[in-house]
Amino acid sequence: MLTCEDNELLTRVSAGTPMGELMRRFWIPAVLETEVAEPDGSPVRVRLLGEDLIAFRSTDGAVGLFDSNCPHRRAPLFFARNEECGLRCVYHGWKFDVSGQCVDMPTEPDNAIFMKKVRIKSYPTRVRGGVVWAYMGPPDHMPELPEFEWACLPERQRYVVKRRQQSNWAQAIEGGLDSAHISFLHRHTESQLKAGQSANGGAAPFMRGTDAVVTDRGPMYEVENRPYGLQMGARRNSGPDHYYWRISHFLMPFYSLFPPGGSPEYAAKAPYNGHAFVPIDDENTWTWSFGASPHREYSAEERSLMSGHDGFWGPIDGNFMPLLNRHNDYLIDRKQQKFGDFTGIRGVANQDAAVQEGMGAICDRTKEHLGASDRGIVMFRRTIMRAARELADGTEPKAAQSGRAYGVRSVSVILPRSAPLETVSTQSAHSGELAG
Ligand SMILES: [Fe+2]
Repeated sequence: MLTCEDNELLTRVSAGTPMGELMRRFWIPAVLETEVAEPDGSPVRVRLLGEDLIAFRSTDGAVGLFDSNCPHRRAPLFFARNEECGLRCVYHGWKFDVSGQCVDMPTEPDNAIFMKKVRIKSYPTRVRGGVVWAYMGPPDHMPELPEFEWACLPERQRYVVKRRQQSNWAQAIEGGLDSAHISFLHRHTESQLKAGQSANGGAAPFMRGTDAVVTDRGPMYEVENRPYGLQMGARRNSGPDHYYWRISHFLMPFYSLFPPGGSPEYAAKAPYNGHAFVPIDDENTWTWSFGASPHREYSAEERSLMSGHDGFWGPIDGNFMPLLNRHNDYLIDRKQQKFGDFTGIRGVANQDAAVQEGMGAICDRTKEHLGASDRGIVMFRRTIMRAARELADGTEPKAAQSGRAYGVRSVSVILPRSAPLETVSTQSAHSGELAG
């Protein structure tokens, strides 16, 4: 459990809060590149860390990220004209270039000095891996982009999707880091697939467990500090002489990477996956899902299973809102729960959302009872809250400046019980220098 004060520290992300300031030291996935694909196309509303913003692709291809409202009389720039390398407010025609500088002020034709003084709040962006990244922190602390393997691979070897979650970010990532829950919440998804259910209800190959996930439901954790955050080894018994290891990662400030399931032979060459739990505000989250397939291209079948509005992480509507959601109780099927699978809810992402959103917009952690299998969660909280407190005291987060270390992989292996975990490599092609 946490004290009320610590729960506030963990969950509040507006500007000026310790956690909000910590997150603003990192590059943040803002929108899919496809949302702003077209130069001079429609501006897109995006809310991040409690701030209402507008994203747009300018005539020259640069992506701008502005305050959502014009600094003149606060008219909404969602309705702005995106033209000739800038956004022009439709209220009085004031225009701003991608850097946020006012470059035209037709209502004040004789006041060039005033025009030069007016800027709109604007955040730097980068495009990598199909994602527009934003930096919302102080300019003198702007780091390099994190070198996630998925973001650095060719398009055919990665995917990236997102959906809205109606809860605070921390309870979402705590699900992403919790290896123990797959033995329960996501049990039987393979039988759904075998029964011929569609992509959004069935199991992707990475969710297929080994027997160990079913027979040993109380994993032991080995958690180690890393430059990017934490490496979490979850150990289950696999026969009398072996352990089944699932090595996940927590990467500051809100990322998880988790390993493929299935047989060791399959897992060794399989794609692995991860999430970014990006706060929209204190009570809503963008749940990004991404995948990296370092050894081969995704097959067409895998791609259709993982991506798209009807894919494995969906189904979602045109605004990234899941169709199974708390307003319809995720369409829980009690018969299915009794006679079919463990939850009666279709789709891994919807199963996660049901338990996480149902905790309330901000989970009250003063009422929890944590056990040994929650060790990864405890370590996550300690790590992120320590970094937030240290930053509030003037110490910058080292992870923000460790972009290369983010190129780690998640793996699952079966090892003899005598073999130490260090024998397993988690490094991707470009992670050699800083990882470990
Ligand atoms: Fe889950």
